[in-house]
Amino acid sequence: MRRCSARAPGKVILSGEHWVVHGGRALAAAVGLYARATCTGWSGDRVVVETPLGRAAVASDGTVDGDAKAAPLGHAIRAALELGYRFMPSICSVDSEIPVGAGLGSSAATAVAVAAAYMAYAAGGPPERESVNRAAFEAEKVTHGKPSGVDNTVSTYGGFILYRRGSRPEPLNMPRLDAEVLIALSGVERRTAEAVGRFTRRLEELNNIGIGGSLASLADKITSLMLEAIARGDAATLGTLLRVSHGILNAMGVSHERLEEIVHIAERAGALGAKLTGAGMGGAAIVLCRGDGCAAVLHSLQSRGYRVLQTALGVDGVEITCEQS
Ligand code: PMV
Repeated sequence: MRRCSARAPGKVILSGEHWVVHGGRALAAAVGLYARATCTGWSGDRVVVETPLGRAAVASDGTVDGDAKAAPLGHAIRAALELGYRFMPSICSVDSEIPVGAGLGSSAATAVAVAAAYMAYAAGGPPERESVNRAAFEAEKVTHGKPSGVDNTVSTYGGFILYRRGSRPEPLNMPRLDAEVLIALSGVERRTAEAVGRFTRRLEELNNIGIGGSLASLADKITSLMLEAIARGDAATLGTLLRVSHGILNAMGVSHERLEEIVHIAERAGALGAKLTGAGMGGAAIVLCRGDGCAAVLHSLQSRGYRVLQTALGVDGVEITCEQS
């Protein structure tokens, strides 16, 4: 019996969150935390997706039913069928090490893993990445309403991605950075809608006093400088830019006292830089560090009770393997 598995990475936003809502650019990177899915045949007549949060089933005509949390994954399978993949009754089991509700792209990574594993199972070999990306985007639309598509694109292609609303997110060809990333969880769920509202009101205030545009240009300049720093492998400059980007997000009202504490602890312990990532007002902060410096930062954050995940930036996108038993 054939069995196909896929693992797909989560993501962090390095620069441009919120500004992207107002027409700016954002830079995101894949991180080495993974969602995994394995599909294999069974005696039933549907494709069943089983997750720790529930299950969904897809019939041969593409009808999806099941638990609300798992239904988007059923829609990824349905999209695979619409893209021309054969209907093959199977069981796809899913698990993930990506924290949920922290802005780390867990829903997209799960959808990418399921789409890739099912397509490989149904086709008998690895699918085109763009098909995986498209099927996962259909799942993201069910989860998030109007997603930008960046999370599924980062998870599919890996590396670094620059995006602007309304344009297709484009994967960038960048060298892997010689630095590690710690993801520190604030323990407070991020509040995207509230944070977007707060940021927007602050931007209007700043526009009224004549400095909103300058701040938007500065944020965009930071995105460009980060790209240049990554391209030449300059982790120290990237760290400084992360810290400045965090300062701006704080000034825009979307930080949280726990995120501030994380950034200050990380800085005191010798990190290259740290910033909140994603919508903010909770969620996670990223800390850039290198070598022994990472152990000191990790220790300081953990001793203050923070859950910290140690990972790499710009990792490869979805990986697929099939075996026959
Ligand atoms: O927290 P995340 O990763 O879902 O990112 C939200 C990014 C925002 O710019 C705040 C919102 C958006 O839709 O782009």
